[in-house]
Amino acid sequence: MRPTGKAKLAGVIGWPVGHSRSPLLHGHWLERYGIDGAYVPLAVEPGCLEAALQGLIALGFRGANVTIPHKEEALRLCHRLTPGAEAIGAANTLIVEADGILGDNSDGFGFLANLEEGAGWNPEGKRCLVLGAGGASRAVIWSLLDGGAAEVLLTNRTASRADSLAEQFGAAACPWEARHSAMDGMDLVVNTTSLGMQGQGPLELSLDALPATAVVTDLVYTPLETELLRAARARGNRTVDGLGMLLHQARPGFAAWFGVEPLVDEALRQAVLG
Ligand code: ATR
Repeated sequence: MRPTGKAKLAGVIGWPVGHSRSPLLHGHWLERYGIDGAYVPLAVEPGCLEAALQGLIALGFRGANVTIPHKEEALRLCHRLTPGAEAIGAANTLIVEADGILGDNSDGFGFLANLEEGAGWNPEGKRCLVLGAGGASRAVIWSLLDGGAAEVLLTNRTASRADSLAEQFGAAACPWEARHSAMDGMDLVVNTTSLGMQGQGPLELSLDALPATAVVTDLVYTPLETELLRAARARGNRTVDGLGMLLHQARPGFAAWFGVEPLVDEALRQAVLG
C-alpha cells in the first residue's frame, strides 16, 4: 500500500525481538485486508519497559504485543487488566485507550481457538492432562478451567511448580513419574514443556493408557509435528499442532488495533512458516 502518512501503528516489544514471527503474521493480515497500518519489531532492553510504554502512548501507537522477557512486568505497568491477564499473571497484548493501557493475555484464547479449529474441541465438561508448569502452562490451565473443564490435572518435572499452580488455579497435580498412567480417562493431553522442540531433549511419554477419542496437542511447533503428535496420530488420536495457537492468539490484538476481525487460514500459516 502507498504511504499515506496516516498509518495505524502497532508492534511487538521484546528483547531480543528479531526472532518474533509477529511482524510476519500481522504484516500478512494488513496486506490481505488492505489496511493502512504498520506492525513493527520494538527491541526494548530489560529495564526500559516503563519508558517504552509511555513512548507507545506518546507516539500514538494503537498498542503492542509483548514477549519475553517483558510479559510479567507489562502486567504491573498496565493501567487496567482483563481477568485473563490478571489470572495468568502476564500481559501479551496491550491496547492503548483514551485514559491508559489495557493489558490482556490472548494465549488462552489462542490455545482454545486452535483446538476448536483443529479438532472441533471445547473444554466443557472435559478431563485434561497438562504437562509442564511454566509460563505457557498458566495460560493453558486458566483457559481450560475458564472454558468449563471438569478436571485439569498438572504434572511437571519439578513437583513444587505443579503444586503451586494447582493450588492457585484450583486444579490437581500428580508426580511427573505418574504421567504415563495419568493418561487414563483423559479427553485432552497438552504438552507445555519445551521437550520435543528442535535442540531440546525428547518428551518420554507412553500413550498406552490414553483413550482413542482423546485429542493431543503440543505447544511446541518446531518441528510442526512433534514426536508426541506423531505417536498420537499413529495410534489414531486426533492431533492439533502448536502453530495455530500462535496464529490465533494474535487475533484479539489485530482486531483491537486495526478494526478488522482477521481470519486464520492456510495462507497465513504459510506466511508465518516463511
Ligand atoms: P515457558 O514459559 O515456555 O512455559 P518455562 O517457564 O521455562 O517456559 O517452562 C518450561 C517447562 O518445560 C517447565 O515445565 C519445565 O519443567 P521444570 O519446571 O521442572 O523446569 C519443562 N522442562 C524443561 N526441560 C525439561 C526436562 N528436561 N524434563 C522435564 N521437563 C522439562
